[in-house]
Amino acid sequence: MKSEAVKKITMIGAGDMGHGIAACCLMGGYSVVLRDIDRKFVDKGMAGIKASFDKFKDKGKMTPEVYADALARLTPVVDLQEAVKDADFIIEAVPEKVELKKSVFADLDKFAPAHAILASNTSNISITEIASATKRPDKVIGYHFFNPAILMKLVEVIKGKKSSDESIAVGYEIAKQMKKVPVIVKKDSPGFIYNRVNEPSGVFLSKILEAGHPTPEEFDAALKPFMPMTPFELTDYVGIDVAVHGLEYFAKVLSPDYKPSDALMAYLKSGNLGKKTGRGFYDWSQGRPKIDPAKATKEFDLNHLVALQVNEATKLLEEGVADDPIEIDLAMANGGGAPFGPFTLAKNIGYPVLLAKLEEIQKKFPLDIFKPTKTMIAGNIKV
Ligand SMILES: NC(=O)c1ccc[n+]([C@@H]2O[C@H](COP(=O)([O-])OP(=O)(O)OC[C@H]3O[C@@H](n4cnc5c(N)ncnc54)[C@H](O)[C@@H]3O)[C@@H](O)[C@H]2O)c1
Repeated sequence: MKSEAVKKITMIGAGDMGHGIAACCLMGGYSVVLRDIDRKFVDKGMAGIKASFDKFKDKGKMTPEVYADALARLTPVVDLQEAVKDADFIIEAVPEKVELKKSVFADLDKFAPAHAILASNTSNISITEIASATKRPDKVIGYHFFNPAILMKLVEVIKGKKSSDESIAVGYEIAKQMKKVPVIVKKDSPGFIYNRVNEPSGVFLSKILEAGHPTPEEFDAALKPFMPMTPFELTDYVGIDVAVHGLEYFAKVLSPDYKPSDALMAYLKSGNLGKKTGRGFYDWSQGRPKIDPAKATKEFDLNHLVALQVNEATKLLEEGVADDPIEIDLAMANGGGAPFGPFTLAKNIGYPVLLAKLEEIQKKFPLDIFKPTKTMIAGNIKV
């Protein structure tokens, strides 16, 4: 199937991600069916899409004609067979549970037309494993959006062991049609690109807490001039439970070095999970914490974080998860708010500077995952 043949997309799951992805499909000009297990969830998703489009219309980013046309192409459905019977492309965003995803994909395989491509927005589950629940693993791909899907540009298009090049190409083109920035992930590997490159920074923060210095505020204060939201504040914002969950997942599938430190686990046990509970590393009861720039530590700076990112990104090249450093930069610059990807930063900062930063980190926290790779040491990546 060619991407031009795709007219109808069905979204399975109308939650946080599902409703946002459905909105992106509408903006790409597709007819969209939104499906969830209960009418109330579908209605909530529909209301979420309308609220996003209302905002665009009020800001003049969407004309009244485009607004009306987009919403007219959206159909709410609860019955699964009805939802997928004439879909060309199906995107799944149900909760992150492997057995649930596999049973959803087995049903999709049963009820969707033979030509339909089945895409999963899973954050972490192996695409190959999800595909094994179907009789069309060549037509199963990973399709990883970032939150909020309507604003974030990156879509990781992930190749499972049996995904065909054609299915990947269709997914890629559809994302382009939605005006997203698709990046092909060539190997089904933990965290794909974006989350994998960022995860060592999570270990770093967890280890700093364990060491007891600098404090979260002293660390964040040093980075404040460079980041709209600094690392510990961001962790509070997203949720300390979410951070722990991510580290535990990587500890299981990649290396025990990712295991969250006792100091980080203490926050989890105390129930102080960040913004949502009013307290985490910071007090959020009066709104966003005020970080005092005068408290900035001299122990660490932005280049320590860049060094960790670049080093992890070189592992993706060495492992064949991506083969083009420009694609990794594209992913990293579009999955979050950073203006540049790690390799562009490394080119400007200089690999020797970053290697020295890695060495400092390793001296304090002697973990294998912080060791520089051969590619990092060679330092001759072209971007
Ligand atoms: N939230 C994020 O930041 C984020 C980012 C990227 C990827 N993801 C991934 O996206 C997926 C969905 O996450 P979310 O945050 O939107 O979750 P969510 O809980 O907000 O939404 C999931 C929705 O799926 C529905 N659902 C459950 N079983 C279903 C079924 N059998 N058929 C149809 N719908 C069903 C639920 O009723 C719910 O409305 C997960 O795999 C998650 O890992 C999440």
